[in-house]
Amino acid sequence: MENKKFYITTPIYYPSAEFHIGHCYTTVIADALARYKRLAGYDVFFQTGTDEHGQKIEKKAEEAGVTPIEYINPIVDNAKDLWKSLQISYDYFIRTTDEQHVKAIQKIFKKMYDKGDIYKGEYKGLYCTPCESFWTESQLDEDGRCPDCHREVKEVSEEAYFFKLSAYQDKLVKFYDEHPGFILPLTRKNEMLNNFINPGLEDLCVSRTSFTWGVPVDFDPGHVVYVWVDALSNYITSLGYPDENAELFKKYWPADLHLVGKEIVRFHTIIWPCMLMSLGLELPKQVFGHGWLIIDGGKISKSLGNYKDPRDYINTYGVDAVRYFLLREVPFGNDGSFSEEALITRTNADLVNTLGNLVNRTIAMSKKYFDSKVENPKVNESVDDSIISYAKMLPSLVDNKMNALKANEALEDIFELLKRSNKYIDDTTPWILAKDEANNDRLKTVLYNLLESIRISAILLRAFIPSTSDRIFKMLNTKNIEFDTLEFGNLETNITLNESEILFNRIEVKEEK
Ligand code: MSP
Repeated sequence: MENKKFYITTPIYYPSAEFHIGHCYTTVIADALARYKRLAGYDVFFQTGTDEHGQKIEKKAEEAGVTPIEYINPIVDNAKDLWKSLQISYDYFIRTTDEQHVKAIQKIFKKMYDKGDIYKGEYKGLYCTPCESFWTESQLDEDGRCPDCHREVKEVSEEAYFFKLSAYQDKLVKFYDEHPGFILPLTRKNEMLNNFINPGLEDLCVSRTSFTWGVPVDFDPGHVVYVWVDALSNYITSLGYPDENAELFKKYWPADLHLVGKEIVRFHTIIWPCMLMSLGLELPKQVFGHGWLIIDGGKISKSLGNYKDPRDYINTYGVDAVRYFLLREVPFGNDGSFSEEALITRTNADLVNTLGNLVNRTIAMSKKYFDSKVENPKVNESVDDSIISYAKMLPSLVDNKMNALKANEALEDIFELLKRSNKYIDDTTPWILAKDEANNDRLKTVLYNLLESIRISAILLRAFIPSTSDRIFKMLNTKNIEFDTLEFGNLETNITLNESEILFNRIEVKEEK
């Protein structure tokens, strides 16, 4: 029998500065997938959180003249508020400063140490402080700087613990071979093999003595656990690990999907699987490395400060305009541009013209011709097929796209039904049918077909733009809003539609500028 649970995670974000639209991107996509799976009947556990330790945060707090936790707390509260505004339906929000997590990290570290996978040595290396990443000479960019952020790296040397990554090289490659869908998109898998694994995995420094803001290694005071061991373990400590009998752990591990940005695929597909092998645990089923949202051709970065509070966009354009843009605009896996203009264009074209217009025209016609009563005398004509046969196919089209994590294409498919429905109005010309009583039953059928397309679209849109779906259901006055009512023809007859309300207002570009 199919396992009906679905455990999905976002990365845990650094609360080193306020969150920007790039963080919203990952989180909204994860939210849509989580909502979709819930609607499809899965028992979903959707986790996000914050990665609170490390030198960078220690420094930021110092600069601000506060303790690290005093520095972090308001940022974390603000992040939670942002997720609320964006209607993120997470089941659990983990903070790496949570007591349960800290204790679990100490046990995880000790467990790997006892197994002989962690040993003490001397660390000499090149370290990028903003990225909290160590690099080897060969990995640096052309200018000898950090390959991710292109800032200067510094040489460090100190006593440190190491994790025997090298011991897991063959097992990791074997795992990749046996699980071809583990890393997606495939280009990222090739990057991992060519850039990191095939040249030979080097052991990983997993403790530091040069800063204190971290989980202390309890059997060796002075050492704190290196951030990536601390951070990656969040995916299991939240479930109750190291208690392997914890209910959540038994139910949800291994994760079905870790959604991560492309620059941290390396940590999730090399370090994390090797740590799990060391702990004797199952590996996650899939890691998807998505592209970045770019502003003005560059990365949106907290350090560069080229971003707005995402709540400004939500307050100006509405939560569903922002969610829709993030889900629809960029083919998942690629980089994509974010700009307010693009958000406006997308909203006007799809949400105002295609969706909003269809709903308002249809409901207005139902009111005008039949006092908002829904009936279906089934006087069909061949033109109906353009929407009926497509609507019948649509749930499986969407399901395939969502399973392949192509939310943008799933939305494109749903909007195809809405576009066809708008065309269907032009083709069937209800205002001409309405001129002759003899066409009454045909006109009722046309309106039924339109309302039914709207209902089916609204059910499928629920994962993406939930409030809009709710507003449509309210107008339709239908109880059939679940996936098991997706079959064409399930809209109740003899119901009366509610008053139509404007779903989205056209955004005038000039005014906004
Ligand atoms: N704390 C680590 C992750 C640990 S996961 C065990 C981290 N944090 S982060 O805050 O820097 O980034 C978190 C995620 O946000 C990454 O997946 C990153 O790709 C994503 N994004 C940050 N800026 C982004 C864009 N401009 N566009 C898309 N995603 C972006 O790395």
